[in-house]
Amino acid sequence: MSAGRRGAAVVSGRTGKPGDAEEPGRAGKPGGAEEPGRAGKPGGAEEPGGAGKPEAAGEPGGARAMPPSEIADPGLAGAGLARIGWAERSMPVLGLMRSAFEREQPFAGTAVAACLHVTAETAVLVNLLTAGGGRLHLAASNPLSTQDDIAAALAACPGVTVHARSGVDRRTYYQHIHRTLDAAPGLVIDDGCDLVNTLHAERPELLAGVRGGCESTTTGVARLRRMAAEGTLAFPVVAADASRTRRMFDNFYGTGQSVIDGILRATNTLLAGQVVVVAGYGPCGRGIAERVRGLGAQVIVTEVDPVRALAALMQGFRVLPMAQAAPLGQVFITATGSRDVIGPGHMAVMRDGAILANAGHFDVEVDVRGLAELSVAIHPDVRPHADEYLLRDGRRLILLAEGRVVNLVAAEGNPAAVMDLSFAVQALALAWLAGPSQSDEESSLEPGVHEVPAEIDTQIATLALASRGAAIDDLTPAQQEYLESWRQGS
Ligand code: NAI
Repeated sequence: MSAGRRGAAVVSGRTGKPGDAEEPGRAGKPGGAEEPGRAGKPGGAEEPGGAGKPEAAGEPGGARAMPPSEIADPGLAGAGLARIGWAERSMPVLGLMRSAFEREQPFAGTAVAACLHVTAETAVLVNLLTAGGGRLHLAASNPLSTQDDIAAALAACPGVTVHARSGVDRRTYYQHIHRTLDAAPGLVIDDGCDLVNTLHAERPELLAGVRGGCESTTTGVARLRRMAAEGTLAFPVVAADASRTRRMFDNFYGTGQSVIDGILRATNTLLAGQVVVVAGYGPCGRGIAERVRGLGAQVIVTEVDPVRALAALMQGFRVLPMAQAAPLGQVFITATGSRDVIGPGHMAVMRDGAILANAGHFDVEVDVRGLAELSVAIHPDVRPHADEYLLRDGRRLILLAEGRVVNLVAAEGNPAAVMDLSFAVQALALAWLAGPSQSDEESSLEPGVHEVPAEIDTQIATLALASRGAAIDDLTPAQQEYLESWRQGS
C-alpha cells in the first residue's frame, strides 16, 4: 500500500497507485506503479523514421547519441494518427501557421525539449514545430494524461522522440524528462515547470545552451516567477499562460467545459439541482462555475482573494468559506493552484456520497493522504477514475482521478479548438525566442519571466477569426486620432 493510503485498507485491485500526497511542486506527476509487462520495454518501436532509432542530438553539429523513444506500444500508432487527424480539423490556426513555418524554418536544427500532456492536440503542435525545422524531444507532463496511441504515433514521426507511457511512477517520470534534456535543448516548452526545474537543479551544465522557453500553465508560471525572484532562472521564459489568448479562452472555455466532461464521464451524475462547490475563482474556476450553473446546479464559490470573491458574488454565486461550504456541497471542484484546499476537517463534515474533483495543475488541492487516514476502506475504481473512500462513520466520499487534473485524467483535456489558440501562442513565442532579435545582444531578452508580446495575441485572434469566417472593423483615421489624443473631450 502506498503512503497515500496509510490508515485504510485497499479493498480490491490496484495498489501503490494513489496520490502519494507528494510534496508541493512535485506532486501530481507520477501515476501509479509501472504496469508489469510494460516496464522495460522502452521504445521498442522501430517505426519508420522514428522510435527505436538513436539520433544525433543537440544543436546543429552536435553528435550526441539519443536514446530511442520510450513508449508503451508502437502498434498503437495507427489509432493515434487517426485521432491526431481528427484534432487537426479543429485546429485551423496552427494549420494556417504551418506554411509560414515550413518556409521560414524558425527552428532549423534546434533541439526542443518539451514536457507537455501527450494528447492529440499536443501532437499537432509538435508536428508544427518539426515542420519549422525543430527536433522535438517530448516527455509527458502528467503520466496519467498520457495517451499511449498518441505517443506511438508521434514516435513514428521524423524529427521526434517521445519518452512517455501512461501511468509510470515518479522515478520514470523524471527519467523521461532527463531523456529530453539529453538532447542538449536550445529551446524548452514546459507545463508545470518540472522540466525547467530539473534542468536547473540537476543538469546545470546544459543551461548555457538554452536560448529560452515557454511555460503553459498558471502554476508553472508562479514557480518560474519564484525562481526569477531568487535570481536562479538562467534564461528567458515566456509566460504563455499569461497571454490574453490563453487566459480568456483556454482556462475559461476549455477548462470550464472539459472539467465538467471529466466529472460526468467518471460519475455520470446529474448536476441539475445539486450543490456544487468551486474553490478558486480565477479564469478556470469562473469557467467551471458558469458551466455548472448552466447545467442547473446551485454553485458556491470559495476564495481567498476578496476582489475575486466579490466578482463571484456579483456574478450571482454564493460565496462561503470552505468550512461552511463543506457540509452543503454534493460535488467539490478545486481550481486554485494551492494545496490542502479540501482537508480532513472539511471531509469530516461532508455529505455521504460527496464527489471530490481537482482541476488545478498539481494533485495537492485535495488532501488525499488526509482522506485515506479518515477512511477504513478504499474501493478503487468503483467506476473508471472514481475511487470510493469509506469513512469510519459509514459515509462514503468519491475521489475522482486520484485528485489529479480531472479533465485530463478522466476526459481528454481541453478541446482541440481551444488548444489551437493556446498552442499558437507557444509556437509563435518560441519562434520569437528563436528569431534574429534574440540573437542580438542589444535586443535579446534578459533571463526571467516575460509576457507574450501583444502582437502575438493579435495575430492569433486575427487568424482564428479568419478561420471562422468572421471579420471586424478597422479604426478610421479620425477614430484613431481621437483615441490617441487627450485634447478632444466632449
Ligand atoms: P488563478 O491563479 O488565476 O486563480 C486561482 C484562484 O484561486 C485565485 O483567485 C486565488 O485567489 C484562489 N485561491 C488560492 N488559494 C485558495 C484557497 N485555498 N481557497 C480558495 N481559493 C483559493 O489560476 P487559474 O488560471 O484559474 O488556474 C487555476 C489552476 O488550474 C492552476 O493550478 C492552473 O495551473 C490550473 N490549470 C488547469 C487547467 C486544466 O486544464 N485543468 C488549465 C489551466 C490552468
